Amino acid sequence: MNDDILKVLYSQDDIAAITKRLAGELKRDYAGKNPLVVCILKGAIMFMTDLVRQLDSYVELDFMDVSSYGDATESSGEVKVIKDLDTSVAGRDVLIVEDIVDTGRTLSYLIKIFQTREAKSIKVCTLMDKPERRIKNVKADYVGTQVPNEFVVGYGLDYAERYRNLPYIGVLKPEIYAS
Ligand code: PRP
Ligand code: MN
Ligand code: MG
Repeated sequence: MNDDILKVLYSQDDIAAITKRLAGELKRDYAGKNPLVVCILKGAIMFMTDLVRQLDSYVELDFMDVSSYGDATESSGEVKVIKDLDTSVAGRDVLIVEDIVDTGRTLSYLIKIFQTREAKSIKVCTLMDKPERRIKNVKADYVGTQVPNEFVVGYGLDYAERYRNLPYIGVLKPEIYAS
């Protein structure tokens, strides 16, 4: 295990089981549709790639990068578009894929943008949800698991751009972000 990790919250097996369950729900709900799966960079990359490989229907993939955190653990409250989609969402069934919903600022902003752009439907699939931290009133339609209010990293999630490559989700040792 990485030395900076205090404990593992979700092992590779745990993540695989959660992903499989969510994929089952998505298969049922998107049967016969051709959703535009929007991966929110960078945190959602691992989850998105594992998730869509479990779907056997048509999907299209696109990527969007918005930022709210910078290198701090607390959200600045600002959301801005770093990279926009290549695809038009007008008339499309949009499925936003996130690694975590925390304050809800990112999601709230994305949903507003896609509504303005006249998506046919907008749903959200997130691996993790931290409802305790919510500031914006948003809810994901598909939630992998609820997580306690601890600083989690790995499987796409970073602290100061590190740890995204870890295959599990762990809690960071407090001394790492305190220093
Ligand atoms: C993180 C995470 C979510 C967002 C959730 O992304 O991946 O996208 O914050 O926080 P919120 O609910 O408070 O808006 P971040 O902006 O850190 O970018 P990253 O995915 O590139 O790490
Ligand atoms: Mn993110
Ligand atoms: Mg981040």
